[in-house]
Amino acid sequence: MGKLDGKVAVVTGAGRGLGRAIALLFAAEGADVAVVDLSAQGAADTAAEIASRGRRSLGLVGDVSDEGQVRHAFERVAAELGEVDILVNNAGIDTTSEIESMPVEMWDEMLRVNLRSVFLCTRAVLPSMRRRRSGRIINIASQLAQKGAATMAHYSAAKAGVIGFTRSLAVEVAADGVLVNAIAPGPLNTDLWRALPDSWRARKLTEVPLGRPGAVEEVAPTALLLASADGSYYLGATLNPNGGDVMV
Ligand SMILES: NC(=O)c1ccc[n+]([C@@H]2O[C@H](COP(=O)([O-])OP(=O)(O)OC[C@H]3O[C@@H](n4cnc5c(N)ncnc54)[C@H](O)[C@@H]3O)[C@@H](O)[C@H]2O)c1
Repeated sequence: MGKLDGKVAVVTGAGRGLGRAIALLFAAEGADVAVVDLSAQGAADTAAEIASRGRRSLGLVGDVSDEGQVRHAFERVAAELGEVDILVNNAGIDTTSEIESMPVEMWDEMLRVNLRSVFLCTRAVLPSMRRRRSGRIINIASQLAQKGAATMAHYSAAKAGVIGFTRSLAVEVAADGVLVNAIAPGPLNTDLWRALPDSWRARKLTEVPLGRPGAVEEVAPTALLLASADGSYYLGATLNPNGGDVMV
C-alpha cells in the first residue's frame, strides 16, 4: 500500500531538481503523475522514470507562467490521467541583481514565473477539487521569503507572495475540503543553486547551521506529508526543511 494509491498528481518544473524528486517519490507511493516543464527532455525523462515504476505518467512541455499553455496542459492531464488530486507548484527560476541596476524585465520575469504561475495552475485545478470536496495544493516557496538576501529582492518578494497566496487560498477553500500549504526549503544542491555566484553560495552556507545545502531527497518527504492522509491537519502552513537557516 502506497500513501498516494489511486491519486493523480501534477508537479510543475519536475524535469529536474526538487520537482523531479517529488514526482518520483509520489509515484513510488502509488500516484499517477504528470510533469509540466519548459524542458521537453526533462519532462520526458521524468515521465519515463515514473512509468518505469509502474505508474501512469504524462510529460508535458509548457510554460506555467503562460495562461494559454497552462489551460492546455491541465486539459491534457484531465483527459489522459483524470481529475487532479494533488498539485505541486514547484517550477521556479533564480537570478541575482542589486535593485538599482535590476532591469524591469528581470523583475517581471521573476514575478511571472515564481508567482503568477502559482495562481494560474491553482486556478486550473480548483473547480474540480472543490466539486469533489477533496484536494491538496503544495506551493514551493523559499527560506528567502522569510529572511531575505541581498541581490535577491525580486526572488524574495515572489516567494513571500507565494506564502501570502497560500494562506489566503487556504482560508478560501478549506470548507470545500481542499488543503493548501507551502514549503520553504533552505539551499538545495540543484542546478538552480549551482548556477548562483560562488561568493553568494559561500556566504549563504555560513548562515546555515548544518553548513551544507540540502539534498532534494531531504525535502521531497515534506511534500509527501502534505499530499497524503498524514497531512490532513495542516492548513495554510509553511513547513521549513532548511538546515536551520530560519528557525520558525
Ligand atoms: N535550489 C534551491 O536552493 C532552492 C531553495 C529554496 C527554494 N527553491 C525552489 O524550489 C523549486 C525548484 O527549484 P530547483 O532547485 O529544483 O530548480 P531547478 O532549476 O533545478 O529546476 C527547476 C525546473 O523548473 C523548470 N521551469 C523553470 N521555469 C519554468 C516555467 N516557466 N514553466 C515550466 N517549467 C519551468 C525548469 O525547466 C527546471 O526543470 C523552485 O521553486 C525554487 O525557487 C530552490
